[in-house]
Amino acid sequence: MKGIIFTEFLEMVESRFGMEGVDQLLEEADLPSGGVYTAVGTYDFKEMVKLLQVLSQQVDIPIESLLHAFGNYLFKALIAHYPEVAEDFSNPMDLLAGIEDHIHSQVLKLYPEAELPSIQVLERSDGSMTLLYESSRGLYRLAHGLIESTFAHFNASAGVRYELLNPEGTLVKFQITQHAGA
Ligand code: HEM
Repeated sequence: MKGIIFTEFLEMVESRFGMEGVDQLLEEADLPSGGVYTAVGTYDFKEMVKLLQVLSQQVDIPIESLLHAFGNYLFKALIAHYPEVAEDFSNPMDLLAGIEDHIHSQVLKLYPEAELPSIQVLERSDGSMTLLYESSRGLYRLAHGLIESTFAHFNASAGVRYELLNPEGTLVKFQITQHAGA
């Protein structure tokens, strides 16, 4: 998993729970990397799982809710980090439809070791779309938050519903309906 995901995660923890919260988290998680990450480095996904488990216990918020909040937080950082990737899109639906072939494919060119989900468009009409998320990491609530913040980025909003197609959450269908006038 790319370092930017870890550095932004720790920044979110700091913004919500302070430096003390970060220190307590890293101390208890006791990670091989020591919790020292650079945005362009690559780290074991197991460290993210551990950070989520420990934080969830410490602050008494379910992992899924933490991932959702993190998805909302992360989008801005990704755009700031890879500005050229998002510039080609003028609305949220086009951006979401372009994740697979434009956005994540660019990321893969830069970092062949990146571990990216597959995001396929199953259906699309004027105000709605259906996406299929597939990833062995099962971070569908992160995807949920990222989808919502894609709309926010374009000053729009949408209703986003998801349906797990297996218990692990490695295959998940998203039903997205853009709010009228937004
Ligand atoms: C400018 C927009 C975006 C950029 C630059 C971007 C880039 C990235 C990067 C660098 C990673 C980390 C890969 C790794 O850890 O090795 C990632 C992971 C991920 N991206 Fe994107 N992304 C963008 C938008 C989105 C959107 C809108 C979604 C919504 C579905 C999304 C879904 C995900 C998910 C769920 C992961 C976690 C890995 C997984 O689930 O397997 N991304 N992305």
